[in-house]
Amino acid sequence: MLRSLLLLICAPLCEPVGVPVSDVTLETQPPGGQVTEGKKLILVCSVARGTGHITFLWYKGAMGLQLGTKAQRSLTAEFEIFPARESDAEHYYCAAGNGYGHKVSGLVSITVRIPVSLPVLTLRTTGAQAVVGDMVELYCEVQRGSPPIQYQFYHKNATLGSSWASSGRGASFNLSLTIDHSGNYSCEADNGLGAQHSEDVPLNITVPMENRRELLTSGVIVGLISILGATIVILLFRSWIKRKNLGRLSAREPLRSPPNPVSQESTYLNSPSSLPLQPVYENVNSARKNDVYSLVNSLQQEREPAADENCFQASFAIYSKLKKTGAADVDYEDAM
Ligand SMILES: *[C@@H]1O[C@H](CO)[C@@H](O)[C@H](O)[C@H]1NC(C)=O
Ligand SMILES: *[C@@H]1O[C@H](CO)[C@@H](O)[C@H](O)[C@H]1NC(C)=O
Ligand SMILES: *[C@@H]1O[C@H](CO)[C@@H](O)[C@H](O)[C@H]1NC(C)=O
Ligand SMILES: *[C@@H]1O[C@H](CO)[C@@H](O)[C@H](O)[C@H]1NC(C)=O
Repeated sequence: MLRSLLLLICAPLCEPVGVPVSDVTLETQPPGGQVTEGKKLILVCSVARGTGHITFLWYKGAMGLQLGTKAQRSLTAEFEIFPARESDAEHYYCAAGNGYGHKVSGLVSITVRIPVSLPVLTLRTTGAQAVVGDMVELYCEVQRGSPPIQYQFYHKNATLGSSWASSGRGASFNLSLTIDHSGNYSCEADNGLGAQHSEDVPLNITVPMENRRELLTSGVIVGLISILGATIVILLFRSWIKRKNLGRLSAREPLRSPPNPVSQESTYLNSPSSLPLQPVYENVNSARKNDVYSLVNSLQQEREPAADENCFQASFAIYSKLKKTGAADVDYEDAM
């Protein structure tokens, strides 16, 4: 009786005054609703006010698939998704309530970013073989990876170039082949979640047959020109030496006695007998065969008075060789 009276009095005063939940929000960790595949996604549901035990509920998608529920004396609660998968990219919302009613948060969109897989490099040539002058397309492709993806192309260690693929999973780089382009190629894909490098792809470049023939022909021509040039230089040098020697011989002539038998000389030189030395110079410049003969001639005359044994012997050799071989210039020089 007394007890029921006390309850009757106390009831309005002793019963705790509950505050209903208000301002329910859903936030994510990492913030911004972006999670990398394989990493942890936390859905944080919070209320601004609310007393007592608060029940939190998480929902996924437009259909409101219930993910989980938690009741705790706290204004926030977390729900973990680990590891995050591609299929976790959805809209989420949460709800919170205590005994005085419940509220729902707004929708939060979650995106799951996928790191690039190992890229595969393909070299596309127009023909079966990569030929100098051809275009080769380097095509780098990943099986998975969220766009945008940046592709870098490498030849040996050097970067050839890069290109972005804002959609799709591949990018190409075109190269006009030179002989220096043989060797290993590779590519790298990166979308900010970890770069991946492809395996090496070798490229053998063949020089086309026409080019090869051209190369060969030009090589032969260059070789022939060089040989010809060298020959001309040698001939000029020898002719200079010869002229020098003749000049020396002729310069000595005036010191010697004038030739007595003029008739012999005139038969070879076809020149007047009054000019015994001048024709030697002239013949050197005009015809080689003649000047050799004239040289021999003048030396034969010198035989008796001059004691120059060497000079005579050399000249004699020249004479006999010329007779034998038919006045070959080279033989003449060798004899000298
Ligand atoms: C280039 O490649 C060679 C082997 O292919 C390697 O030894 C060298 O370290 C590389 N250099 C750079 C700068 O990457
Ligand atoms: C390379 O060439 C191919 C085929 O000719 C073409 O489809 C592609 O767009 C070219 N790529 C670039 C980067 O120019
Ligand atoms: C190309 O790459 C392959 C595999 O990485 C390697 O075995 C080979 O030696 C490389 N060739 C050249 C020329 O670097
Ligand atoms: C490229 O050349 C290397 C050796 O020079 C050879 O082992 C390889 O089989 C060649 N590859 C192709 C596709 O011809």
